Amino acid sequence: MKTITLPKQSYLKSQDFTFGVATSSFQIEGDIAGRELCIWDTFCRKPGKIKDKSNGDVACEHIENYQQDVELIASLGVDAYRFSIAWGRVINSDGSVNQTGLAFYSNLVDALLKRGIKSYLTLYHWDLPQYLEDQGGWLNRDTAYRFADYAEVVAKALGNKVVSYATLNEPFCSAYLSYEAGIHAPGKQSRQQGRQAAHHLLLAHGLALPKLRQHAPLAEHGIVLNFSPCYPASDSVQDKLAAESAHQYHNLWYIEPLLKGGYPPLFEQLAANEQPEVRSGDMDIISQPIDFLGVNYYTRTVFRENQRGWFSDVPATGDELTTMGWEVYPAGLTEILIGLHQRYQNLPPVYITENGAAYDDQIDNGIVDDARRIDYFQSHLLAVDDAINDGVDVRGYFAWSLMDNFEWAEGYTQRFGIVYVDYQTQQRTLKNSAKALQQLCLTRQSQL
Ligand code: NOJ
Repeated sequence: MKTITLPKQSYLKSQDFTFGVATSSFQIEGDIAGRELCIWDTFCRKPGKIKDKSNGDVACEHIENYQQDVELIASLGVDAYRFSIAWGRVINSDGSVNQTGLAFYSNLVDALLKRGIKSYLTLYHWDLPQYLEDQGGWLNRDTAYRFADYAEVVAKALGNKVVSYATLNEPFCSAYLSYEAGIHAPGKQSRQQGRQAAHHLLLAHGLALPKLRQHAPLAEHGIVLNFSPCYPASDSVQDKLAAESAHQYHNLWYIEPLLKGGYPPLFEQLAANEQPEVRSGDMDIISQPIDFLGVNYYTRTVFRENQRGWFSDVPATGDELTTMGWEVYPAGLTEILIGLHQRYQNLPPVYITENGAAYDDQIDNGIVDDARRIDYFQSHLLAVDDAINDGVDVRGYFAWSLMDNFEWAEGYTQRFGIVYVDYQTQQRTLKNSAKALQQLCLTRQSQL
């Protein structure tokens, strides 16, 4: 079996660096009966939206199996577990609190604590309650205020037992993929709506922060963004400009308001009826200091200019592709981290909150020999190490994902887990990549 090795003096080996695994509520929980419906329940029922016509009704039955799952996490030797809360499992449509739902998360955090595992909690990983979507969802400014109320309920209940609160996971996906490209729930397709959703998401983040700080003063509070370096498809000036615009539109659109209090220059190039409504004072709310930035990284993206004078992405080619069709490109992670470090003097400490790859895993006699995933982790951990050596303050790394799960529009066709899930029996089997990470974590512990 392949192993993962780190340079002798690597900071990743130190006690201060956090290793973890990550999941999200809709992707693993199941138990649809125990919560309000969310936009993904609705979306999954629309023909043609999910590749294998599946849904999240059962998923990995994590609600039922959470104790075994905590044992599984503990067996890996990791320091931390990143998970998300389903908004609709905590807040009912009439605004009251679902005490059973809230108790589930409280029990989960307690079970993790007992095993010495730190909780990294995300409040919003895309499962907006349908009752809020029925009132406009992220196009309705009021949703941002409802989010802050929900955040307060969670922080009041869990407080400092959780070491890290992230408001949002990848607002790019909740805005662009969901309201602009239409490939994620609720499946809207409008540039103005995509931009408006992004603004309200950022506002929601800013409105929630003070409540989180109030009720969990010892925890760290931040946000998780996805980044993908944008490359031009050719040397032409047009393609270079296309790549630069894509960078502003997909990457900077979220981080600039947070760390600089304004949208990138591309904002001005949007037609007036495509620009989001930004009220005075919004940027002050959005740009409050954060304690950490979560960076999710998977691949780079290549862009060309299209006929509308805008940019289109070019599908990746080559041998080094995952089953998502994503190019394995570890240097992009170093580039993103160094780019952030150089651009923002107020960049807070960074955590790699997601990194991983989907492959066509086969289970044979209880063995899943996912050597390519081990290579993926190995090269990306070295990419993080490079960035740290160049001065970037990276404090942790979370593998996506703890286990195979519902991969959104791809359904269950993509396996990102380091643990294999048999969806018929719900049996979990450590893939070789889990064993490699386990070995890394356990040797690290024994050297402390
Ligand atoms: C990012 C998302 O946060 C997660 O939900 C998803 O499964 C992975 N990317 C892989 O696509």
